[in-house]
Amino acid sequence: MDFKFSEEQLLIQDVARRIAQEKVAPSAEYHDRTGEFPLENIRLMGESGLMGIEVPAEYGGAGLDPISYVLAMVEIAAADAAHSTIMSVNNSLFCNGILKFGTEAQKQLYVRAIAEGREIGAFALTEPQSGSDATAMRCRAVARGDGSYVVNGKKSWITSGPVAKYIVLFAMTDPDKGARGITAFVVDTAKAGFHRGKTEPKLGIRASATCEIEFQDYVAAPEEVLGKPGEGFKIAMGVLDAGRIGIASQAVGISRAAYEATLVYARERKAFGAPIGSFQMIQSKIADMKCKLDASLLLTLRAAWAKQQAEGQPHGRFSTEASVAKLTASEAAMWIAHQAVQVHGGMGYSKEMPLERYFRDAKITEIYEGTSEIQRLVIARHETGLR
Ligand code: CAA
Repeated sequence: MDFKFSEEQLLIQDVARRIAQEKVAPSAEYHDRTGEFPLENIRLMGESGLMGIEVPAEYGGAGLDPISYVLAMVEIAAADAAHSTIMSVNNSLFCNGILKFGTEAQKQLYVRAIAEGREIGAFALTEPQSGSDATAMRCRAVARGDGSYVVNGKKSWITSGPVAKYIVLFAMTDPDKGARGITAFVVDTAKAGFHRGKTEPKLGIRASATCEIEFQDYVAAPEEVLGKPGEGFKIAMGVLDAGRIGIASQAVGISRAAYEATLVYARERKAFGAPIGSFQMIQSKIADMKCKLDASLLLTLRAAWAKQQAEGQPHGRFSTEASVAKLTASEAAMWIAHQAVQVHGGMGYSKEMPLERYFRDAKITEIYEGTSEIQRLVIARHETGLR
């Protein structure tokens, strides 16, 4: 057990912190207010290795480990959660799955463009009628007999959908087989048959664009199939395990920002002739915030460590650690942001300070990449061995 980070880990944390403080934080209020996609910052983050942290250098990434990913995500999320959403989808949901299941040609074509920040990636699993129950998907891909498929159907809540060049897509190829009848693809949004639908107006992470997408007789070439036909559900679940570490890191970043702002305010703001931080009721909140923040970070780092241990092992899984981290960190972020608004009083409710943004942004971490209820289900199934 060693709580020290390596030089490489500290270096990428430093790169992320610098970009977070110099570029992301100063424009966070603007991006939240306008909902404008922060393309310029994302390109810069890509050039600095932040869009493909665990991607080997030969495919355009930084070639670092899962701990480095957590450290960098926390820095970006503390400055602006929306930026970290885009970063997490590119890193964990897009690059990760193709690196693990893709062919050499797929890695060179798709991963390189996203890891270098030249293009944006997305992940399409959810549909209007299927979220938590992912196998209930209706999007169909029908085999044509020559290795290609014709795809028809809708996907919803697609993070980065409005700007993505490539999308990892899951479609039912054999409905009678349920979870074993789903196939993964990497589709090109410039091709015929791909359409974008309405953009979602959202409570938080407003600068991370989200929309519905539709496939109408989209022809997926054999080179667009990711992994083996029928393996799509396992690919989706494995990728989401990694994604959940990214969302846990995002939650830690939001918690840290809300906590640090609260410390400053509690020292400066006076009431009844004393700094409010000297009152026991505020001190109690601060102590609880600190405990939840530290627990979230440590569990997220443990999940990243578990991911690293699982790498290279044929059946290596880190699902439970990832769900424990995501559940703990997301519920902590919601609670910490709530307390931070409360300690700030009227100023917490005002758009002149970022507290209300942290509060709105924290909520999504309890919903996407598996709700808190789904994380509890994954953990309890593992612990009890029951379904
Ligand atoms: N890794 C590898 N394989 C896995 C796995 C994992 N983590 N989880 C399950 N599997 C395998 C199982 O072993 C099983 O394999 P066999 O058929 O060989 O036995 C198969 O997949 C089916 O598993 P289950 O029977 O457990 O499946 P289920 O239907 O009961 O579903 C679930 C399990 C946990 C509820 C799952 O559906 C789930 O996680 N749902 C939530 C979906 C989700 O997170 N959606 C987020 C959308 S993406 C998003 O939010 C992105 C964004 O915008 C940022």
